Amino acid sequence: MSATKSPTVTIAPGVEMPLIGLGTWQANGNQAYDAVRHALHVGYRHIDTATMYGNEAAVGRAVRDSGLPRDEVFITTKLPSGNAGRERATIDGSLHALGVERVDLWLIHWPPGGRAAPQVWEQFVQVQADGLARAIGVSNYDERQIDELIAATGVTPAVNQIEWSPARYDAAVVEAHRARGVTLEGYSPFKSANLRERVLVEIAERHGVTTRQVVVRWHIEHGIVVIPKSSNSARIDANFDVFGFALQADEVARIDALGS
Ligand SMILES: NC(=O)c1ccc[n+]([C@@H]2O[C@H](COP(=O)([O-])OP(=O)(O)OC[C@H]3O[C@@H](n4cnc5c(N)ncnc54)[C@H](OP(=O)(O)O)[C@@H]3O)[C@@H](O)[C@H]2O)c1
Repeated sequence: MSATKSPTVTIAPGVEMPLIGLGTWQANGNQAYDAVRHALHVGYRHIDTATMYGNEAAVGRAVRDSGLPRDEVFITTKLPSGNAGRERATIDGSLHALGVERVDLWLIHWPPGGRAAPQVWEQFVQVQADGLARAIGVSNYDERQIDELIAATGVTPAVNQIEWSPARYDAAVVEAHRARGVTLEGYSPFKSANLRERVLVEIAERHGVTTRQVVVRWHIEHGIVVIPKSSNSARIDANFDVFGFALQADEVARIDALGS
């Protein structure tokens, strides 16, 4: 099996986050356990879960049973927006279910009630200060909402996890995150892509890989975190097998051009 390690990006406050993680939405119980065990076995060191996914206990058990030192696996979980006002109880529940003392990244899953919710962000800042989350961030936020959090607290979210794929590529969004020092993390890399797109097929054929592998590699070339989900061992392998080729600058540009 591949012993390759995913490259990392440094997120505030100086935490190394592997650029490829395993998504776990819709992987429940034993499925999530088996997927995480397999992923860690083949080299993944980053798992994306959420309170809402209902699989934190299975994820935590798989990380423990892998035998890897805790500090070698990056774990993200998320506060459901409906739990605004119950931040501390929610993180305590996540830590208990995962069986860890702290998570590596804790995200506000969606803007609560569609708003930035700086009062929730203040609680996140406190949870980080108390050592329960090494890094804190948001998900599904826009730039205006991120600016509102920064203005209210002086603390910039380390990460914004948003839907991302070639079809979603937008240089202005990339720049907005870069300018604020917010690391862009993409979700649904396959579901939101047109994997039959001629440009992707052509580039995949040139490198002897699949269009999905091109999509994952394209994230890496951009330094954007990508968290493909699979519960199937062969597909978990394939999604991580992207270190035997690299995309040329012109190929990246052609893929970028598929976005809006
Ligand atoms: N923050 C948010 O609001 C948010 C929203 C959505 C997702 N996420 C996170 O992002 C992760 C990824 O997004 P996603 O699960 O929506 O979609 P995705 O990763 O784009 O696609 C997952 C789907 O593709 C299939 N698949 C994966 N690898 C494949 C391969 N090599 N060949 C063929 N089929 C393959 C999977 O099926 P199999 O499992 O059967 O392989 C699954 O049906 C989630 O799991 C979750 O952790 C976050």
